[in-house]
Amino acid sequence: MSRVIVFGSINVDLVAEVARLPGPGETIKTDSYVALPGGKGANQALAAARNGAATHMVGAVGSDGQAPTALAQLRSDGVGLAAVEEVEGASGLAMIAVDAGGENQIIVVSGANASAAAAQLPPMAPGDWLVTQNEVDWLQTAQAHRRAREQGAGVIHNTAPAHGLSGAELARIDVLVANEHELAQAAPSAAETGADAQARSLLAAGVGAVVLTLGARGSALYTGAEEATAVPAAPAEVRDTTGAGDAFVGALAAALASGQSLPEAVASANRYAARVCEVLGAQTPVDQVSS
Ligand code: RIB
Repeated sequence: MSRVIVFGSINVDLVAEVARLPGPGETIKTDSYVALPGGKGANQALAAARNGAATHMVGAVGSDGQAPTALAQLRSDGVGLAAVEEVEGASGLAMIAVDAGGENQIIVVSGANASAAAAQLPPMAPGDWLVTQNEVDWLQTAQAHRRAREQGAGVIHNTAPAHGLSGAELARIDVLVANEHELAQAAPSAAETGADAQARSLLAAGVGAVVLTLGARGSALYTGAEEATAVPAAPAEVRDTTGAGDAFVGALAAALASGQSLPEAVASANRYAARVCEVLGAQTPVDQVSS
């Protein structure tokens, strides 16, 4: 059976709902605060599991007592945690402000995520999908891609937070998922302007396919010289967009692991990501709207 293996970050998210996001040097008061499990990697793993994939999380938590909160939802949704290590020190932490329109501002403190190592990965096999993002050490992520390639697994890389990628690194990625800002950072040539040209330069550099996420405008799928395939977003009553991109990536991986074609998988992922925007927090079950 194909599996989804996520190598990446595990955080506790400290979420405050505010009327509007603060400007530089500004203090905003609110009464709404909650600590929730998060981290781009963990959010992606959870989404893959909730979309039916046998899923394993690979990463690190700290010895500071935050691990039970950080791992609670992964554990209860059946994500394999055997490759999550506890290291001395603080767990990953994200300070998140969410405004009345569901838009957010996030500061991530890496903590234990900086210790996550590709050596923790379980053996992979053809049919498996490795999912990565940019919240753990890039050299370890690149090593994880090499391992997946050697063992015949597919690689989905979500270049979030934005990070530049070299030619050899790009050639090991089967599906690159990026928003417009991340796409511009990942494109090999700074001379390329516009998402179309940037996506095509990534394909020319060896990426198998590029999925450009466009929020409420849906996604665009680039697989070759022909026109991009536009995949519309599902309607959503937005409460909090935190983790919507992660949910998209996890759902995409689950759909590919189940044998869906790439266009079908992007459509499934769009639908799931829309539902995640309707709840507060990145890991809140989508059928449960928190107060
Ligand atoms: O993408 C959302 C995630 O980014 C949050 O859960 C937070 O932990 C940060 O990693």
